[in-house]
Amino acid sequence: MGSKLTAPAVRARKDSGQPPLVMVTAYDAPSARMADEAGVDVILVGDSVAMVVLGYDDTLQVTVEDMAHHVAAVARTRPRALVVGDLPWMSYHVSVEEAVRNAATLVRAGAESVKLEGGAKRVPVVEAIVAAEIPVMGHVGLTPQSVHVMGGFTVQGRQRDAALALIDDARALEAAGCFAIVLEGVPDAVAAMVTDAVGVPTIGIGAGPACDGQVLVLHDVLGLEDRIAPKFVRRYASLKADGVAALERFAEDVRAGRFPADRESYHLAPEVAAALGLEQPGTGELAGGASMTA
Ligand code: KIV
Repeated sequence: MGSKLTAPAVRARKDSGQPPLVMVTAYDAPSARMADEAGVDVILVGDSVAMVVLGYDDTLQVTVEDMAHHVAAVARTRPRALVVGDLPWMSYHVSVEEAVRNAATLVRAGAESVKLEGGAKRVPVVEAIVAAEIPVMGHVGLTPQSVHVMGGFTVQGRQRDAALALIDDARALEAAGCFAIVLEGVPDAVAAMVTDAVGVPTIGIGAGPACDGQVLVLHDVLGLEDRIAPKFVRRYASLKADGVAALERFAEDVRAGRFPADRESYHLAPEVAAALGLEQPGTGELAGGASMTA
């Protein structure tokens, strides 16, 4: 499977001639194991957990403690992939000092780097976190934590000045020490310009094919939900449909008395059964289909 992915190794992928980086957003141990067995390069424990798993309408509802809880679940699987912990809204907006402490909380939970949203205005925070020896991934374009300022989850950088501002933002993040930058929800041509303008890998989501890597949320890739997805999502499985069908079969088996079967039940030793005055083992099935044999 190869050696452990680190932030410097991800950084070194820029213009390396290697295939594009693969990042998935995952929030728990089974998902992290799946992603890692599939050979992804980076697991982002994203604040999208708020919407994808916790049922909120936006990402603003999760706290550093929530994120640390999910980071720890992913990190416990000891993936080969680099683990990036997402700094949630208000964890790096109040002061640089708070930002560094919150980044450290995610590292102590198991993150090997952190991600935060925003461009040039985040330079002091990025510099301080990097100075605390924590690798930082930037995130520009459609930044979901700015949903109210953007007026919704809308594509960014469609106009000339906004496109040029995105390039400036990405350059500022690179200069501040980011080892990679997520480009979310920007026109493909703008993502290509940003990618050309910086010396660190860009990882796109809804940003076209020119980025140095791509990220999708694991639940979207697997079709764990069948709600209408944004156009950039490609589903590679329909696990929601498979899951509903499996649960329907389970319910039918329970209601028809077919579950649990004998082999799915624990049994008393014959002498204990005898001492209890129960039917001798091997003589037949008890009610519900369970025999008394061990
Ligand atoms: O939280 C998240 O899943 C993200 C990705 C969409 C990049 O930030």
